[in-house]
Amino acid sequence: MQEFPIYVSKISKKFVKTRGSRFRRSRKKRIVQALDNVDLQVRKGEIFGLLGPNGAGKTTLVKILTTIVIPDSGVAKINGFDVVKESRQARASFGATIGGGERSTYWKMTGQENLIFFGRMYGLSRKKAKDRTVHLLEQMQLTDKAHERVENYSTGMKMKINFARALISDSPVLLFDEPTLGLDPSFARDLRLYIKNVLQKEENKTILLTTHYMAEADQLSDRVSLIDNGKIVDTATPEQLKLQIKDQEVIKIRTTDSLPNRFLEDIPGILEIYNHNDSIRIHTSDSSQIMLSVLEKLKEMNITIKSIDVETPTLEDAFIKLTGRGLADRKEES
Ligand SMILES: Nc1ncnc2c1ncn2[C@@H]1O[C@H](COP(=O)(O)OP(=O)(O)OP(=O)(O)O)[C@@H](O)[C@H]1O
Ligand SMILES: [Mg+2]
Repeated sequence: MQEFPIYVSKISKKFVKTRGSRFRRSRKKRIVQALDNVDLQVRKGEIFGLLGPNGAGKTTLVKILTTIVIPDSGVAKINGFDVVKESRQARASFGATIGGGERSTYWKMTGQENLIFFGRMYGLSRKKAKDRTVHLLEQMQLTDKAHERVENYSTGMKMKINFARALISDSPVLLFDEPTLGLDPSFARDLRLYIKNVLQKEENKTILLTTHYMAEADQLSDRVSLIDNGKIVDTATPEQLKLQIKDQEVIKIRTTDSLPNRFLEDIPGILEIYNHNDSIRIHTSDSSQIMLSVLEKLKEMNITIKSIDVETPTLEDAFIKLTGRGLADRKEES
């Protein structure tokens, strides 16, 4: 059997969420199934994207793989080491960034001190730790901030130093939770190229990254798992996912008001419709055939149109088709 550097089998995790203030008597408890029987195997040298909306369970899975959270059931291994039973060895074989505002550097220390410190913790010699620190600070465009305390860094700079920290040990397995969230578009683009060209192609790392940016998953991943409500909905290459809706066009309409449900259903030629507040996406095999009927119907209902676009389907459309909903709350970036 092929050994997968990242191996997840039937992992489940529940959280108990308490609503209301900690000081009130009438607190209500609710169980959230953050992960439900998740399977995922990442091959050596592969970039694997875990794509899903807010609250889907992405960070929870990364936390389990990084030994921060213990799963209720199932098995997860990094480089063959069980993250629960052999957590020490597992921890020595990955570098990771975890989103959601987790601190992973010491804010009272400078960027350079942090990287050297963590390098030494991973067993690098003094010289190797220093050399790698200088190299990574340069790669992350932080050289001029090397001697500033991390507490004085901007949010984006903190993201970068976390990223450098994940790379300091030169581990074969890398886990990146929303690596480009909060970065300016130009550095986000550089970072994606760095992940693809340097970490994957030159250094042959095995990489799991989570994202809710469709374009990022599409551009970087060799394979993608779509996750929704703690369940893996589908796993395939981005191309295979898009193939499911290949010969389709998507008419995207934005309106000034919220749209009623099911008001275009009777127009022939519409394959699928997805409404979300003030936007509607209509799948069809030929937009020119149905455009007029759609516009007439909107006019009849006194709906004011802000914009109309006709596009070829994206990974997002595949996601919507599979889950019946979009990546709500997502923030767009270029
Ligand atoms: N420590 C915790 N206690 C209670 N509930 C939690 C905890 N951590 C996560 N959850 C819940 O588990 C679910 C999955 O959360 P998770 O952070 O894994 O989602 P995510 O896919 O990373 O979302 P996002 O895109 O917003 O980062 C959510 O409903 C979340 O509220
Ligand atoms: Mg998250």
